[in-house]
Amino acid sequence: MRSATPPFAPRVREPGETAVIAIDGPAASGKSSTAHWVAERLGFRHIDSGALYRAATAAAMRRQPAGGWAEGFVLEAAADVRLLPNRTSFIAAIGGEPIDAEIRDAGVTQYVSLVARMPGVRAWVNELVRDAAKGSDVVVDGRDIGTVVFPGADLKVFLVADPWERARRRLTQRLERAPTDDEIAEETERLVQRDSRDATQTVQAADAVLIDTTYLTQEEQVERIVTLARVVLRREA
Ligand code: CDP
Repeated sequence: MRSATPPFAPRVREPGETAVIAIDGPAASGKSSTAHWVAERLGFRHIDSGALYRAATAAAMRRQPAGGWAEGFVLEAAADVRLLPNRTSFIAAIGGEPIDAEIRDAGVTQYVSLVARMPGVRAWVNELVRDAAKGSDVVVDGRDIGTVVFPGADLKVFLVADPWERARRRLTQRLERAPTDDEIAEETERLVQRDSRDATQTVQAADAVLIDTTYLTQEEQVERIVTLARVVLRREA
């Protein structure tokens, strides 16, 4: 991590300073799975910032099911949320219990953008993410990682893909079969609505590398980022 520098400017990392790769982009652009595999390849740890917004939403839903929450209520519910380290990543947990299935739930997905607009929640997520990054080299994915959370990240990537293709991939993952065109059309509609609700916090950094993954395989996009990372990190070493 470092203070902002022009794109690809060589840097000398201070002893003990960790490396940060920021991967941002809109809903279902493949950020989390790509970040996971990039981290695995580089021996870094993956932090999924979206999982924290989802965990705060799930924690609020556990206390009171139907939206309409004040920021103070959400932050109080989120006090039980932690990022627990494992070998390759940090896992969001409520009360010490990992909660991956619960936070991917359609109800959480419906309310998460509302929660993510709360400034206090954003400050809380950013602090947890920055704390987690202190001891390890990390790949962090989200919407504003390269602009707000780590403006001095060693490498910034902004992933985009055609909405129909994003919807197709998300459904294939969720249904574990090929979705029909009608299903893809409905999911595309949901995705573009979430894109519009998240628009203010989804920002491409001026010094981010834009990668359109519409016609790339998962392996190709991972390979591209790993190659970029190796060049930048070698130059900095
Ligand atoms: O993977 P997907 O695109 O479905 O979303 P996610 O990364 O799990 O993030 C869930 C939600 O959290 C997004 O729809 C945003 O509202 C919010 N988010 C955010 O505002 N800022 C981030 N850095 C990460 C997520």
